[in-house]
Amino acid sequence: MSQKQEIILSGIRPTGRLHYGNYFGAVKAFLELQEKGHRCYYFIADYHALTTITERVDFYRQTIDMLRTYVACGLDPVKSVIYRQSDLPCTAELNLLLGMITNIGFLERGTTYKDKMTKLAANENMEGNPLSFGLLGYPVLMASDILIVRANTVPVGDDQRQHVEMAMDIAQKFNSRFGETLTIPKAVSRNALRLPGLDGAAKMGKSDNNTLDLLDDPATVLKKIKGVQTTTDPGPLGTDSDEPEDVIPLLPHSLGALYRLLHLLAPKDVYLDFVGKYRRGEKFYGTLKTTLAEHVSKFNAPIIERFNAAGNDEESVKEFLRENAKKVTPVALETVEAVRQAMGIGHSLYRA
Ligand code: TYM
Repeated sequence: MSQKQEIILSGIRPTGRLHYGNYFGAVKAFLELQEKGHRCYYFIADYHALTTITERVDFYRQTIDMLRTYVACGLDPVKSVIYRQSDLPCTAELNLLLGMITNIGFLERGTTYKDKMTKLAANENMEGNPLSFGLLGYPVLMASDILIVRANTVPVGDDQRQHVEMAMDIAQKFNSRFGETLTIPKAVSRNALRLPGLDGAAKMGKSDNNTLDLLDDPATVLKKIKGVQTTTDPGPLGTDSDEPEDVIPLLPHSLGALYRLLHLLAPKDVYLDFVGKYRRGEKFYGTLKTTLAEHVSKFNAPIIERFNAAGNDEESVKEFLRENAKKVTPVALETVEAVRQAMGIGHSLYRA
């Protein structure tokens, strides 16, 4: 391989099924990077999922389902290390150590935290789970995930851009204070995707009930897409360009989601045909929805088939997780030991 091998890391919380935002914002890049022969670490962020916990959830079961969906999408356990975040508990130690040098003011600027604060101020329902220490510290734990394997590249959707920038800042601060110890990851590309929700929200998100999922069957797909609000007159397009980057931001979000999905899934001439229909002021919402639903169901079919065909043997799943945790543990421990050493507390005598 002529290209330099990079270290890739990314994670997804096991908070439900994978949706199209997850797939096109992150998983698609996981697959491409895996095929380029990089060293890829993809994990299921079960610790992070606890920041929204209000009652006991069977995260283990959700983790297994996420694992099966990962593999059904094409993640290859031979080419990538696929593990569960909590099987690498030394991440929690790094989180603690990095937390010691991270200012609260810096964390308070985190968008996830700020959004929750705004909701709290507006007295919105916080599901009995307002602002936890874990939520404020979310970016530190995420930085620990990234820095512990010395990742160069972190494929994520646009909504996670700020978190990766915070990881870069934390690593830089650590290195300038204690000497070059941590690898600083690259910033997220400006082209990273933010797929709107089917309800017209700016982002498709698991907790917003506005997702199209990879495991949705054809009837569910059609129902969800038909339910997208398209009744208001969207007015003239406002651009002569047909390019999705010019067209989609001008559309109301729910229509933008439909056009974005069409562009991602259908041949380009199908997308262009619907841009033309819009521009000419034709009535097309019905056909847009049925055409898109067909493409979505076609895309989902092999994933659903592989998901259902995957074995559900508890013991082999546990063995799989154990083996993968073993693959990532040495590099992770090495980083934590280097950080302890750099900060002056020295190696762990327990581990030695
Ligand atoms: P999570 O579980 O919310 O989302 C997983 C991935 O899906 C992307 N994504 C989207 N991309 C485009 N449009 C959308 N509507 C959309 N919704 C979700 C996210 O950007 C993400 O890439 N904090 C992370 C998990 C995590 C992590 C990490 C990621 C924990 N530690 C370290 C990278 C590196 C999260 O909650 O993702």
